[in-house]
Amino acid sequence: MCGIVAYVGSKVARPILLEGLKRLEYRGYDSAGIAVLTGGKLHVARRVGRVANLQEAIEGQAAFDGSLGLCHTRWATHGGVTDFNAHPHTDDRHGIALVHNGIIENYAALKTYLQEKGHSFSSQTDTEVLVMLIGELYEGDLEKAVQAALREVTGAYAICVICEKEPGVLVCARKGSPLMVGIGSDNEYVVASDGAAIIAHTGRVVMLDDYNVVKMDAGGFRTTDIHNTPLSPRVQQLEIELEQIELGGFTHFMLKEIFEQPKSVRACISGRLDMREGRVVLGGLSSFAKELTKARRVVITAQGTALHAAMIGRYMLEDLAKIPTQTEYASEFRYRNPVIEENTVVIAVSQSGETADTLAALHEAKERGALALGVVNVVGSSIARETDAGVYLRVGPEIGVASTKAFIGQVTVLSLISMYMARKRFMSADQCLDLMKEMEAIPGKIERILEQAGRIKRITEKYVERENWLFLGRGYNYPTALEGALKLKEISYIHAEGMPAAEMKHGPIALINEGMPAVFIANRGRQYEKVMSNIQEVRSRGGHVIAVATEGDTEIAKHVQDVMYVPDVCEPLSPILTVVPLQLMAYYAAVARGHDVDKPRNLAKSVTVE
Ligand code: F6R
Repeated sequence: MCGIVAYVGSKVARPILLEGLKRLEYRGYDSAGIAVLTGGKLHVARRVGRVANLQEAIEGQAAFDGSLGLCHTRWATHGGVTDFNAHPHTDDRHGIALVHNGIIENYAALKTYLQEKGHSFSSQTDTEVLVMLIGELYEGDLEKAVQAALREVTGAYAICVICEKEPGVLVCARKGSPLMVGIGSDNEYVVASDGAAIIAHTGRVVMLDDYNVVKMDAGGFRTTDIHNTPLSPRVQQLEIELEQIELGGFTHFMLKEIFEQPKSVRACISGRLDMREGRVVLGGLSSFAKELTKARRVVITAQGTALHAAMIGRYMLEDLAKIPTQTEYASEFRYRNPVIEENTVVIAVSQSGETADTLAALHEAKERGALALGVVNVVGSSIARETDAGVYLRVGPEIGVASTKAFIGQVTVLSLISMYMARKRFMSADQCLDLMKEMEAIPGKIERILEQAGRIKRITEKYVERENWLFLGRGYNYPTALEGALKLKEISYIHAEGMPAAEMKHGPIALINEGMPAVFIANRGRQYEKVMSNIQEVRSRGGHVIAVATEGDTEIAKHVQDVMYVPDVCEPLSPILTVVPLQLMAYYAAVARGHDVDKPRNLAKSVTVE
């Protein structure tokens, strides 16, 4: 949440900052701001709305042509969406400007202290308190003032700071919120919340750890902790390419990412299926093979879409590996005093690897003695670094705020983990081989579904004016129903509920009226007949049924209004196919309703606050 970019070097900072900021807009897009030091003077502009508004506001102004600057795109936490609350914030004494992602939890007490010292505030933000505190502690050395201020704050932060009195110096720091320093040639640095804003300039980065403070200037960079102890950071290569973060001819990143899914699954399984031995190879887990064999319980924790993937993972772990498994909202798990017995494995599932609640749940689990595994997409992210071991999704950067290819990657990885653990217990090589063959065929099957995009669009457009939808599924496809409803809600703002198809009779059936769309996941499987009965229950009350069914099932078309077909597949892997038409439906509904698909209202990609 919130995106930060800062630059120091010999070039004009503005285009680097604004281009970078546009690439981070998916992290928040309430308002944007920039501060540049030009001719020894700080120039600041802030605007409600998108980065494009800000760009227009400073167009042609030479005051923003300096080579040291920082900028920010905001997802509001403290204080409404106004120009005054937008970042950067400045102090009232030394010409210090700061951008911040996170929450300063003790800001109220610090604000009272600073007011007593004579500082006056112009915003309602916690961030302005932090920059005033740095100003209060400033004695001619920005790095020291930042370290001193950070010793006083509690909460989470990724910050970049500049000061009129030190024209070539950029200082940044992190605790809890992501930040990385891109190292260009000739002492040029681009600092950003994620690599998307850096990769056009350099692939060499330092990922900051908690409590790291980095000072950059023409003489190089140095890293310390907040007590000024020097540290030796590891320089690493960014694992993204420019074309992965560009639209490449698609109208939206969400559509691009839906169409990338065959490639995502191929990347995800590549080198992980040993067809000769009938086993799954997961290098990331190999040093914990013994612990995984002994595991008596698995807890999978996540939020949102990642939790829906986790729920499918639970079904697979119990069904295939026979290990008692539970899923937990990370936000609940972290506070509810969970019981973690010996030999419990906790798996944190997260696209970004930065979700605050999932990270905190992971800490909780580790403290209670669990083996902590990560199923993460972003390489080097906080969750990836703090788990004992893990398996990356390898689906590439996901830019669309509504998660699609990461969901497919999460389900794929969880199925690989289930097969891996199953083989260590009861599953024979032949059984595993059968599943792996099904897995290998998945990308081609997703391609077949994508070929029907035009038909799915036409079906969606028939119902797009309806304000209430139901999504119903059973077994492995109950979580798929939840995911279908979430996708529709978040980008088309249509109210949708997902639930187990059998649960409908226990209350929600009262909602069904003439023409209400009910999307049933009715692919062939153990509960097919039961789902068909549930379909009749909806039909007899006037609901309109849209079914996701298995290719060749011509019978179902006689009982429902519309059918979207998916190829046949074994049940555990079926959600990887059945979710695709639902993603496309949500996309086409949002487009038909005229919404900004990649930047839905009130949302941000990476939820780094509680
Ligand atoms: C919905 C969506 C969110 C995320 C959730 C967790 O489309 O993207 O529900 O799944 O915020 O995010 P990660 O996976 O980054 O932990």
